[in-house]
Amino acid sequence: MSYQKSTNVSWQDGKVSLQDRYKLIRQRGATLWMTGLSGSGKSTIAIALERALFEKGFLSYRLDGDNIRLGINKNLGFSAADRKENIRRIGEVSKLFTDAGIITLASFISPYQKDRDIVREIHQQSGLVFIEIFVDCKLESAEKRDPKGLYKRARKGEIKNFTGIDDPYETPSHPEIHLISDRMSVEDEVEEIIKYLSEIEILV
Ligand code: ADX
Repeated sequence: MSYQKSTNVSWQDGKVSLQDRYKLIRQRGATLWMTGLSGSGKSTIAIALERALFEKGFLSYRLDGDNIRLGINKNLGFSAADRKENIRRIGEVSKLFTDAGIITLASFISPYQKDRDIVREIHQQSGLVFIEIFVDCKLESAEKRDPKGLYKRARKGEIKNFTGIDDPYETPSHPEIHLISDRMSVEDEVEEIIKYLSEIEILV
């Protein structure tokens, strides 16, 4: 649990419960947390999944690393401390979206297991569904794809602390879903996630 700076603050309950909200909008919220190397396909999967869910009549919303870093987290860089704060904030934002009833698609490298575990914990403490999806892709494949040309620049030393090059990525130990993105098609990945969401009755 991170440091609480403000004092004399307490949680205010409303008169509309989580169940009331979910019933009203006829869907249950859940956070789908996609973790993996840059270029592993997290955003691509989230975009395809968002569309597939929309077509099935479910509302989802994407929180994406690059987009978030252009807005709410524009004051954060890529040191371990800044990545931790990046993930903490988005974990809290995801929790709010999921509490509201949205299927929240969070795609962040989130390289540290500890930081991902904190996000899991804040969801579970509030009785909210958290699903960790490991978008597993060999560094070699991600580097070959290099959609933004960042690996090439990191190899030349133009970008420091680049995940997989001179910064660590800790493989998830117990992800709910494990996708091998350099072997599976995006369609199959989306199908696997949808199957899982149906099994745990998020999609009914
Ligand atoms: S995280 O590590 O804090 O979870 P996040 O997912 O928000 O990272 O942002 C990663 C994106 O930032 C990458 O997809 C890439 O486009 C860009 N980026 C820029 N510098 C770095 C870096 N040093 N390491 C990783 N990604 C970087």
